[in-house]
Amino acid sequence: MSKLFSSLPLAACLVAGAAVRGTFAAPQEIDVERRIDALVARMTLEEKIGQLRQTNGGAVGEALSEDMSAAPLDPAFLADVTAGRYGSLLGRRGAVSYNILQRAAVAGRLGIPLLIGHDMIHSSRTCYPIPLALACAFDEDLWTRIGAAIAVESLTVGCNWTFTPMIDVARDARWGRIAESAGSDPLVTSRFGVALVKGLQGDDLADGRHIAACAKHYVAYGAPLGGRDYNAVELSDATLRDVYLPPFRAAVAAGVATVMPAFHSYNDVPCTMNAYLLRDILRGEMGFRGLTISDWGAVDELVAHGVATPGADAAAKALNGGIDMEMVTTHFADGLAEAVAKGTVREAAIDAAVRNVLRVKFRLGLFDHPTIDAAALEATIDFAAHRALAREAAAKSCVLLKNDGVLPLAAPRVALVGDIATNSRQMQGTWSTFDFSNTTNDTLLAGLVADGVDVAYTEAYTLTGRVDRVALARACDAADVVVACFGDYLEKTGENNASARIELPGEQLAVIDAVKATGRPLVAVVFGGRPLAIPELAEKADAIVMAWNPGGAGGWGVADVLTGAAEPYGRLTTDFPTATGECPKFYSRTLTGRHHVPGARWTTRYNDVPFASVYPFGYGRTYTTFAYAGERVSVEGAEVVFAADVTNTGSRKGRELVQVYTHDVVAQTVRPRRELKGFRRVELAPGETRRVEIRVPAATLGYTVDKVYRVEPGRFEAWIAPDSDSGKTLTFRLD
Ligand code: GLC
Repeated sequence: MSKLFSSLPLAACLVAGAAVRGTFAAPQEIDVERRIDALVARMTLEEKIGQLRQTNGGAVGEALSEDMSAAPLDPAFLADVTAGRYGSLLGRRGAVSYNILQRAAVAGRLGIPLLIGHDMIHSSRTCYPIPLALACAFDEDLWTRIGAAIAVESLTVGCNWTFTPMIDVARDARWGRIAESAGSDPLVTSRFGVALVKGLQGDDLADGRHIAACAKHYVAYGAPLGGRDYNAVELSDATLRDVYLPPFRAAVAAGVATVMPAFHSYNDVPCTMNAYLLRDILRGEMGFRGLTISDWGAVDELVAHGVATPGADAAAKALNGGIDMEMVTTHFADGLAEAVAKGTVREAAIDAAVRNVLRVKFRLGLFDHPTIDAAALEATIDFAAHRALAREAAAKSCVLLKNDGVLPLAAPRVALVGDIATNSRQMQGTWSTFDFSNTTNDTLLAGLVADGVDVAYTEAYTLTGRVDRVALARACDAADVVVACFGDYLEKTGENNASARIELPGEQLAVIDAVKATGRPLVAVVFGGRPLAIPELAEKADAIVMAWNPGGAGGWGVADVLTGAAEPYGRLTTDFPTATGECPKFYSRTLTGRHHVPGARWTTRYNDVPFASVYPFGYGRTYTTFAYAGERVSVEGAEVVFAADVTNTGSRKGRELVQVYTHDVVAQTVRPRRELKGFRRVELAPGETRRVEIRVPAATLGYTVDKVYRVEPGRFEAWIAPDSDSGKTLTFRLD
């Protein structure tokens, strides 16, 4: 008899590191509910609606006179404010304007403070690597430390809410926002989201050092048809529940304060009005009690979707569908009162939304401390430590994909070529919407120089332009090794940046051949915000480092890896395909009646590229080597225990990421060939062997059928391995 769970098991959330919040209200929560009741009872309908709209800070920023004095503004207008996309409300004087706005708000009849949010996605005043890079560190402690650093810096510029973590599982490299994701795997994405929520929100959201986080974009935004941003998503309910929902369950269990639905339609109903997603699952199954905020203009886009008319109709469909707050457009402000009058919205539904908004404000302590003493807070921040954290994160996010011995750099003379090498802006990544006042804005060139490398820089080519072959040849001839920059510009990734080609643009392939023609070893450093099709580099380069967009100290961090000052640490959280046509390509593909096995012909494959990924999920090299032996799996009560002897067989210390995968051999429905169920990093000295053990709750080995999650008895295959394509096949049984 299979063990039935009503939904994804609590254990899955626990595995994701989420501390499940108590199901019984604590005394202070009872007090907050009473204060909310008292407030709502006093509010007019207009004041309630005022709490459900978020205004673009750009407009509000202009309302503050140059001397930052502001006439008391109508609290209904300033119910909630997001900073302008480009910080028009925030910036160096952000906390000053924040305090003016908060004083104006609490001066109102009800004394209700503001949420002021901004996209501090992977940066605030210090810029860290993009999420797709950070995820490659497989390091929850690092992610949490970065979240905490972003939170406290954000408060000093007047921001108490950030629209992160983005926990959309992303399996299609054509989709530009894969750059903001943690990659293709639900477990990694869950751990990433939980770690960031813990860092951003801390243990006490009202402690004056933490800010409200926002799990987005709910849900399955990473699976648009064709990889085209904003496009429709069509998924089975089982895939929704087993792949795309787990990160949100984990984030909710970890106490995330807010959730943002996605722009797209899910099975023909826009997420912005999808009660199945927002009410049945998010509220009903997950027990979410925070606020939901539409994405930028998404309520207005119900009209474009062809499912609503402007004003009362769009407002009613969004609110009834489960949206609490409308971001920047005004259908709630213009149409909710009318919808109540017409009976298409019950005032009780508005009250419920207002309660969710007020609950977040109480959790943040804004009623007790509406303003920020930025100077005092700033004095507590070690900005040098944040820069060091950014440099550490950049090094840990790099993935060494290939090394024929040319790294770490030891050659006396290094030629550095390619325009990216001196472009600090390109280090920062797609959500670089802030001023990064604390970032060195360094470059790879600066980093190599700082690390003592005798390096000569020549641009010779740009990523998308022509190659100056004479300059390139001259640079190579004057050096013993060539470090060449490849990849794509950050403007080609992120929102609204789906690419129909993920091959190297410009004349980069010619650069590879031109450098190889000189006989000099070629070290390729690849920058960008998505997996790229780089089979030519894999074949011809002597070393490859995937550097992504490594952040504001990224040049230094990448240089540390190239010189060996930092050991390579990263492992891929996506697959690198041979060609765009393979997208979406991901390791946890479901079996078919003719799934591919090497050498077979009548199987699901392409006839013009190899079946295997150029580099698979979980893959990454180090400056040493590791061997596995004594792999063993056993069932101990409610846990499956994986263990192996891992040996550092090289001459340098190194960190191995031991990964465990399982496959349910005979199930009611077709299952993925492998699914990551756990990972652990181990640092070993040369010659050292350690028995590594990873314990996995058996409750996480199930899957969903007809909306019911189940763990079934039977035989499983398992692997204890360094990546998703390797490892000895083991078996175990669940009874
Ligand atoms: C954007 C994004 C979302 C972001 C929001 C506010 O369009 O989809 O991720 O948080 O608008 O800038």
